[in-house]
Amino acid sequence: MDSRATARIGILVVSDRASRGEYEDRGGPAIQEYLSEVLTSPWQPVAEIISDEQSAIESALIKMCDDENCCLVITTGGTGPAKRDVTPEATEAVADKLMPGFGELMRYESLKAVPTAILSRQTAAVRTNGLIVNLPGQPRAIRECLNAVFPAIPYCIDLIGGPFLETDEARLISFRPKKK
Ligand code: MTE
Repeated sequence: MDSRATARIGILVVSDRASRGEYEDRGGPAIQEYLSEVLTSPWQPVAEIISDEQSAIESALIKMCDDENCCLVITTGGTGPAKRDVTPEATEAVADKLMPGFGELMRYESLKAVPTAILSRQTAAVRTNGLIVNLPGQPRAIRECLNAVFPAIPYCIDLIGGPFLETDEARLISFRPKKK
């Protein structure tokens, strides 16, 4: 891929109630605000709100990674222990590769903010040329989790053949190992 191409970033809100319009979604806008704050290279969102149905989540992830050419897909919601929480299962089902370090680090950092951080089964995976990262549904979790893992995301996207993401260094330093 042309490294100067505009990055397409999927924002997938997984929530029965938000998808039925029973409450205003705050997660999607919070992710969009975070990305606008941190990224200095060109990007555009590919946003969707869907219910907690595993088949619907899998279809949306496949569409975003394979057809919409997203280099990054951030999901929010459906990571907990409740019966309808199946976002990690959907992520694992469509994965080419699992990326367990993301979930480990997000839970570790979230635990500093809330004791219930361990209730999230959030994970990450590579599918085609896209990195999928699960976040919990709480809007405040979005910032806490993305601050933890975002420094490693641009280099991960380099490694899977995506565009060159640049961040505002005053806000967040993305780490790329020096070439030998
Ligand atoms: N992580 C952070 N950073 N902040 C939070 O408020 N909420 C926890 C956990 N992780 C939370 C968090 C709670 S209460 C739950 S039940 C799980 O995420 C799963 O949330 P989800 O089902 O909305 O994805």
